[in-house]
Amino acid sequence: MSDATGTLLEVDDLRVDFPTRTGLVQAVRGVSFSLGRERLGIVGESGSGKSQTGRAIMGLTPPQALVSAKKLALDGIDLLAMPARQRRALRGKRIAMILQDPKYSLDPVMSIGRQIVETLRTHEKVSKGEARERALAMLEAVQIRDPARVFDLHPHEVSGGMGQRAMIAMMLIAGPELMIADEPTSALDVTVQLDVLGILDRLVSERGMGLIFISHDLRLVASFCDRVIVMYAGKVVEQLKASELREAQHPYTRGLLNCMPKIGYERHPLPVLDRKPEWAA
Ligand SMILES: Nc1ncnc2c1ncn2[C@@H]1O[C@H](COP(=O)(O)OP(=O)(O)O)[C@@H](O)[C@H]1O
Ligand SMILES: [Mg+2]
Repeated sequence: MSDATGTLLEVDDLRVDFPTRTGLVQAVRGVSFSLGRERLGIVGESGSGKSQTGRAIMGLTPPQALVSAKKLALDGIDLLAMPARQRRALRGKRIAMILQDPKYSLDPVMSIGRQIVETLRTHEKVSKGEARERALAMLEAVQIRDPARVFDLHPHEVSGGMGQRAMIAMMLIAGPELMIADEPTSALDVTVQLDVLGILDRLVSERGMGLIFISHDLRLVASFCDRVIVMYAGKVVEQLKASELREAQHPYTRGLLNCMPKIGYERHPLPVLDRKPEWAA
């Protein structure tokens, strides 16, 4: 449930630092935004801090990472002040994260159906029979045509696109309010990508979830999201409505737009992404 203002997530001055032998790596340097029940895109080149931002919200940064924020709250609940056990219980239940490659999220030695059932049963007291029914319905909701058959298959027995759908089913089974999708379609063929995006889109609007969609593909994000945050070197350089993308002001954003290949175009030489130290200041 969101509060009276409709705000689901508040992020104020989020920082993620990694102490290393050669000094402090500042992966996220003061990111702020708030999210309602909408689709927010986070874009930026590789290494700009997108994944660490998502992971910090989820509470899944690497153990050596130092996470701090003036505010990091889900539905008004302070996520950073919460005991680890409570934070774990929130994951999967109220916040879910979909990763690029289902290989790392699905257990290779457990059938797809059992994984979904067990995820549900960690978060809710339901009978085995009811859990199975709900898992089958969820597989159907992610457009798996023969849920009863897929239920008994292991992850290696299905295609990448099917594995990705199964993972989405597992992430959504407990009915999270916030979903973070980190490059969820990058490992998939273009046609399967569009299928998966369509499924996410429908689930977000039907279930009224908030979605954070992380991608390096500015055009994809703009066509899929309501709002876009552009990150560079751990900072937000620009926030836009998706519809305002063409009028983007920041030269980095314009550079990202120009670097996206257009189908049916051949450009020589290939554009190079411009980077200026003052954008990171
Ligand atoms: N375990 C780590 N130790 C040190 N630095 C890290 C670690 N993980 C990520 N980083 C640094 O954090 C920065 C942001 O990483 P990331 O959020 O994964 O970028 P993106 O998802 O935008 O490609 C990168 O510069 C990376 O080098
Ligand atoms: Mg990443």
